[in-house]
Amino acid sequence: MLGDFVEISDVDLDQSRRFLSRFIGPGKAGTSCALDCGSGIGRVSKGVLFPVFERLELADMMEHFLLHAHEEYLGDDADRVETYYCYSLQEFTPPKNKYDVIWMQWVACHLTDHDLATFLAKCKRALRPNGVVILKDNMARNGCKMDLVDSSISRHLDVMRTIIHKAGLEVVALEKQEGFPDVIMPVWMLALR
Ligand SMILES: C[S@@+](CC[C@H](N)C(=O)[O-])C[C@H]1O[C@@H](n2cnc3c(N)ncnc32)[C@H](O)[C@@H]1O
Repeated sequence: MLGDFVEISDVDLDQSRRFLSRFIGPGKAGTSCALDCGSGIGRVSKGVLFPVFERLELADMMEHFLLHAHEEYLGDDADRVETYYCYSLQEFTPPKNKYDVIWMQWVACHLTDHDLATFLAKCKRALRPNGVVILKDNMARNGCKMDLVDSSISRHLDVMRTIIHKAGLEVVALEKQEGFPDVIMPVWMLALR
């Protein structure tokens, strides 16, 4: 999804860290355990989640990404990964009442509306008290836009809100990613609970 714009990763991670910090602390989400969904090799885990959480779990359907995360990319932080789940999110049910934060970045776009709503409902049950789901993804300026190259779909924020509502979650905060080139579709972060 970062495609030719690998250089935007630092900007992305920096704003993600600041967004996450709004939901962590006394009276807010704890820092015991987070789940990185559609983790890939663990870019978000490494840049955003490990500095905050004691333990992490990663879920991705591509085994070689998880292996690379464990054996190379995460370095010593790999010792703090409790479980790698090699599943498609359509088949994955996260353990109940376990996570302070569930992060979903650039993976909602690979799920159908129905599968996304079903998975988000499971995420709701997997949150600890005051926990939050953070969904970060491309959002179409109008309607929905298919990318035939990587088989992803970008949805307008209103479409995403409808899916979130069907999952029984509410948007408690949202923020647009700044600092990306104009040619990139708008990227938004949504905090849900
Ligand atoms: C664009 S990458 C994003 C990786 C990471 N979240 C990041 O922001 O750097 C999309 C990731 O989602 C994974 N993925 C795509 N469809 C998936 C599905 N249905 N279930 C689980 N993982 C999926 C891919 O294997 C890939 O690692």
